[in-house]
Amino acid sequence: MVKVAPSVLSANFAELKKDLDMIKACGADWIHYDVMDGHFVPNISFGYSILKDISKVTDMYLDVHLMISHPMKYVDEFIKAGASLITFHVEAMANETSTRELIQHIQNQGIHVGLSIKPTTQVDEIEKYLDDVDLVLVMSVEPGFGGQSFQHQAIDKIRKLHSLKNGRHFIIEVDGGINAETGLLCKEAGVDVLVAGSYVFQADNCQKAIDSLK
Ligand code: DX5
Ligand code: ZN
Repeated sequence: MVKVAPSVLSANFAELKKDLDMIKACGADWIHYDVMDGHFVPNISFGYSILKDISKVTDMYLDVHLMISHPMKYVDEFIKAGASLITFHVEAMANETSTRELIQHIQNQGIHVGLSIKPTTQVDEIEKYLDDVDLVLVMSVEPGFGGQSFQHQAIDKIRKLHSLKNGRHFIIEVDGGINAETGLLCKEAGVDVLVAGSYVFQADNCQKAIDSLK
């Protein structure tokens, strides 16, 4: 069954603990934590200190999505803060050597590593890393903001990644504009994890919203 990872970007930060307890009770599998630096993306969210506080009050799997330039500089802080998985963007890396180094570096700390592609980046560009990563995150919106509309080219990328799995261990996650309808298209294409921000947090009944994604 598909996993659902609500994005805390859409939570009420003044009531964060309450919102985290709520999504857990509603059946969320992971917490998706969107880090934005105002440089790699045109928006700023939060850094590792809030993650540290979150990890103290939840036992949920912490799925950290770094939308930042120079991820190598900051990953250790996110690992120390309790990340279960760190996903970085291939577009933030200078070359193949630094990308491979960062994948290795994160795995060496004993946590999972993911690689993400923006809507304009093709699967071909990350095919060479598929033996080494635990997760590929397909962005179905331009990273930077919650509440945008799903871009359908993500479906073909998910399908392609699914066909490239044969024996490899990575799983596929999709992020941006996910609701019951777009989530179903992604599931049919072979996705393993659905990130959903506004659809879950703005729902009157988050359990119904999460059930409809599963
Ligand atoms: C976008 C973030 C997403 C976003 C998803 O840059 O990576 O995780 O919060 O929000 P919705 O589900 O509202 O599109
Ligand atoms: Zn995200």
